[in-house]
Amino acid sequence: MKKLIIRKIEELEKWRQSLKSSINFIPTMGNLHDGHQKLISTAKSSNSNTNLVSIFVNPLQFDSKADLQSYPKTFDKDIEIAFSTGADAIFIPNTIDIFPPNNKNIIYLKASKELSSALCGLTREGHFDGVCTVVYRFIKLIQPKNLYLGEKDWQQLLILKNLIEEKKIKINIVSVPTQRDSDGVPFSSRNKLLSKKDRKILQFFSNELIHSKKVFKKNKKIDLKQITERLDSKNISIEYLEHLNPYNLKKVQEEDNISILAGAINCGKTRLIDHVFLMKRNPIIAIDGPAGSGKSTITKLIAKELNLLYLDTGAMYRALSWLFIKEKIDYSKESELNKILKNVSIIFKSYAHSHQDVFINNFCVTEEIRSQEISSIVSKISSIKEIREFLVTEQRKIGESGGLVAEGRDIGTTVFPYAELKIYLTASIDERAKRRKSDKKSKDSQDIEFNKLKELIKKRDFEDSNRKISPLMKANDAIEIITDGYSINEVVDQIIDLYNDKIPKEIQMQ
Ligand code: PAF
Repeated sequence: MKKLIIRKIEELEKWRQSLKSSINFIPTMGNLHDGHQKLISTAKSSNSNTNLVSIFVNPLQFDSKADLQSYPKTFDKDIEIAFSTGADAIFIPNTIDIFPPNNKNIIYLKASKELSSALCGLTREGHFDGVCTVVYRFIKLIQPKNLYLGEKDWQQLLILKNLIEEKKIKINIVSVPTQRDSDGVPFSSRNKLLSKKDRKILQFFSNELIHSKKVFKKNKKIDLKQITERLDSKNISIEYLEHLNPYNLKKVQEEDNISILAGAINCGKTRLIDHVFLMKRNPIIAIDGPAGSGKSTITKLIAKELNLLYLDTGAMYRALSWLFIKEKIDYSKESELNKILKNVSIIFKSYAHSHQDVFINNFCVTEEIRSQEISSIVSKISSIKEIREFLVTEQRKIGESGGLVAEGRDIGTTVFPYAELKIYLTASIDERAKRRKSDKKSKDSQDIEFNKLKELIKKRDFEDSNRKISPLMKANDAIEIITDGYSINEVVDQIIDLYNDKIPKEIQMQ
């Protein structure tokens, strides 16, 4: 495709209409650096869409005229960089075309009050309103499928996500992690304005944040006062240094697993921001749902795709059921039950091709636990208090350091109530019975008549949803996905998109 520079809105419209593919949009204010290059190369490598980079120094988002005037403008070099990194077209409009004076069709937006009344929003009056206004204007003109934004400007990213949601715009936001120079300083256009001495100050600040992240990993604690003192000792002028919940930008709470340590400093006349994400344990995805909802297949694929541990809690209940049958245990007798639970060991072994075996007391029971005999007693067994307590403790041990996707019926409500992403997967009874019938692993289900199978599923649903302890139910903060009519891959993609939307890429890479 011919590389194109577009300057006028009419040209943009003509070009857009001539395209056969969708658009990946990478908005910038120019002075392109490694951070922008990562945005462009991510767009280029993630699909075969057309990549459009915009270069527009948006006057609305500058709260000071001096800052606007001194903002580095390097258009020729930017064009070279953008094309060589993967841009198919570059849009470089004039201010007058983007914001024609007295034009009633331009919508001047206000950023979310909640999200813009913290961090940079406290001192940069109107800044995020300006960002929202320009990005919305560009989206309307360009109509892209994907929008690429850097996590370096985390607050901006949150505010733009909120805008897209509020305006119900059909666009997928792809976030790209902060890119750092070899001295730890994040790439930013404003770095150009720094003297050697200022750069050293910024380096100290960024490295202080990076160090805090390492300390947090060990101690799960952060001492803002101590960090401030160290920065003060270097005469660093701090505008803010905050430890917040990364989604609502409010003070961090004890139960928050992921948090953000964000700061802004002034180096001479230049204001710079940096942040790190802190995490007590790796993220957890909880997938709950009734029998036949596709949980197992989908959870396994997600584990593979996101490189997470796969925890099949249902298999643990089934394995215990298998042991009870094999050893003829009368599980209604508390003493017998406690004796066996003291000595039981359930472990999973995973293989490269995403197959997983389950062992109970060293017996590999992967296949056998899928029999109808086990299916018919597992619900009853899983309603026994001692068994649930025992297995929930085991499951929490496995999930202690996170980094896993767990499937079951009480994951989001009981086992991991603080999971970062909770999914409630379900489907109609007909659909679930159809799936069970065609499931080669569920051998006995293939021999049962369809209507009888539906009855069995209904019975299982009733038992699971009505048991006293940890009944099957959707957690308040779970996202329900009804899988009728969707392919497995469509559901997997949907969940991965939700995960990517929730978990900063900077964290996924740790
Ligand atoms: O992040 C930036 O460079 C700008 O705020 C953006 C998103 C291009 C809007 O002007």
